[in-house]
Amino acid sequence: MCGIVGYVGKKSVVDILTDGLEQLEYRGYDSSGIAVMCKDDIKVYKAVGKLKNLREELKGHENEFASSTMGIGHIRWATHGAPTVLNAHPHTCNCGNLVIVHNGIIENYKELKENLIKLGCIFRSETDTEVVAHLVARKYSQCNDLTEAVRLASKDIEGAYALCVMHNDCKQKLVITKRNAPLVVGVGLNEFYAASDVPAIIKHTNKAVYLSDNQIATLTPEKMELIDGDGNKIEPKAEILPWEPVALSKMGYKHFMLKEIHEQPDVIRNILVGRLHAPDENVVLDEVKLTKETLKNLNRIQIIACGTSLHAAMIGKYLIESFCGIAVDVEASSEYIYRKTVTDEHTLVIGVSQSGETADTLTAIKQSKAKGSHILIITNRPDSAMAREADSLIPVSAGIEVSVAATKSYVAQLMAFYLLALYMAEIKESMAVSDLTSLKAELMILPQKIEQILAHKDDIQRVAKCYANTKDFIYIARGINYPTALEGALKLKEISYINATGYPAGELKHGPIAMLDETMPVLSILMNGSVYEKLLSNSEEAKARNARMIALTNSKDEKLNDLFENIIRVPDVQELFSPIIAMIPLQLIAYYIAEFLGKDVDQPRNLAKSVTVE
Ligand code: M6R
Repeated sequence: MCGIVGYVGKKSVVDILTDGLEQLEYRGYDSSGIAVMCKDDIKVYKAVGKLKNLREELKGHENEFASSTMGIGHIRWATHGAPTVLNAHPHTCNCGNLVIVHNGIIENYKELKENLIKLGCIFRSETDTEVVAHLVARKYSQCNDLTEAVRLASKDIEGAYALCVMHNDCKQKLVITKRNAPLVVGVGLNEFYAASDVPAIIKHTNKAVYLSDNQIATLTPEKMELIDGDGNKIEPKAEILPWEPVALSKMGYKHFMLKEIHEQPDVIRNILVGRLHAPDENVVLDEVKLTKETLKNLNRIQIIACGTSLHAAMIGKYLIESFCGIAVDVEASSEYIYRKTVTDEHTLVIGVSQSGETADTLTAIKQSKAKGSHILIITNRPDSAMAREADSLIPVSAGIEVSVAATKSYVAQLMAFYLLALYMAEIKESMAVSDLTSLKAELMILPQKIEQILAHKDDIQRVAKCYANTKDFIYIARGINYPTALEGALKLKEISYINATGYPAGELKHGPIAMLDETMPVLSILMNGSVYEKLLSNSEEAKARNARMIALTNSKDEKLNDLFENIIRVPDVQELFSPIIAMIPLQLIAYYIAEFLGKDVDQPRNLAKSVTVE
């Protein structure tokens, strides 16, 4: 997490840095800071909390940096040390001549720090980053070349980092490097931008160079020089970024989350383009690079993911197992990486990640790749580290998702699983053609059904408000919608801080039912299909304990009015697609409750969009 930006060119730098950091606020917002090359020397400005505090801090200093055209900036998600001004980046060496911003974790910082203290370095912060400032400064004092100093220092560093470095001796030079953390260089005319992510630069340029691990770039207004970790020259390869600056605007919505919820019908249409033309035609999924023969014989799939992506993976398991009869294991990446797994070259490993940068999933992917597994990545960021590890890559094309709470990327991931499961079922001939045709027909009309739900969002808002002041919230479901209950609860807790939990309804009586009384809202995801009656009984059991019952349902059953104090009705849909239809009201409930409570919907406390630490 954390976000870094850098600029060297001819333009006034401070607005470029602060605007860039604003676009990276999704990566953390514990503190922020910039370092700017002013007339005589580098000046550093920092503030705790959100970027607006830094903007305040900068007021009154305009004369100092009015003509500055080079600088670096940082937005922090605290790992080592509390969110204080001292721990905020940029960090400096003893004499203050060298400044640095860092995203990642320096794993061997303790031993580096001990050595540096022995050599006379004075540490002012509790961060792991400060060791890098001192280390590079020491190397610089030996070689008098900033690029070489960064290269030599990076040999001593273990862990993950993206770094931007400036030195008072080099008035028009930025040195940047990375390992296991994202870093992109934006290429302009007589100017270069550096950033942890595209949103920070897309307003200025759509031409970019992605650095590979251990590469070091030296940026001056005129040129970019690139070397590898051994000092060999590399020709930078620029590519055109697919992002539109407009994607970063709220487009009139109060929050990005609400905008992103409304984008979901189009997200589904987008992912279907070129992949599903008509119900009676086969799914086209050229992105899957496994041969048909291998797919036919496949008997084990492992899916790894975190958070919301993990919930999408759980539904993916359900789909693949029921469409194709292939055994699928799903595991949180953070658990998968610390145990002896039986993944091997006969296992297809699917990594699911919105950002494509989540450290736990990236590590899990690398581990399985080393064991010879074919790696299929489902991500919203085809330009991410995970995408670069992929043997097969399914980009979900949801467009940039700014709100920390994942919404449209989740629905897009589900769509990728529907397509994948259908594609494999067609190859394996594991389903009747008529069933496949009917599923594909329904898939194609999901966007209209979501639009119907969105058209009645006021009703959902009304229901949500009834429960805004509750402390706890339980979601129950069964079968394919058990992960929907988990995801609904995750959405609510992450943006409203209400203690929300999802349960498979059959488990209620094994413990959670003890929690129920007249204060507890229980939302039952009661979708027509194989477990409808079972879930209805479980809802009766909860009602018998006086819980405040809410139904989310596509049933027309009038009897439900007696059982539930509120009913949210959604369009009818085949059970297999109900996770998509059910999710939209759950996202809206979470949104409206958080909005009603006045919470920071797009940037909830303690969270970050891209979790690049294990
Ligand atoms: O980028 P990823 O999908 O790998 O991220 C995984 C989780 O960090 C993410 O889904 C997180 O749970 C979101 N805040 C959910 O809204």
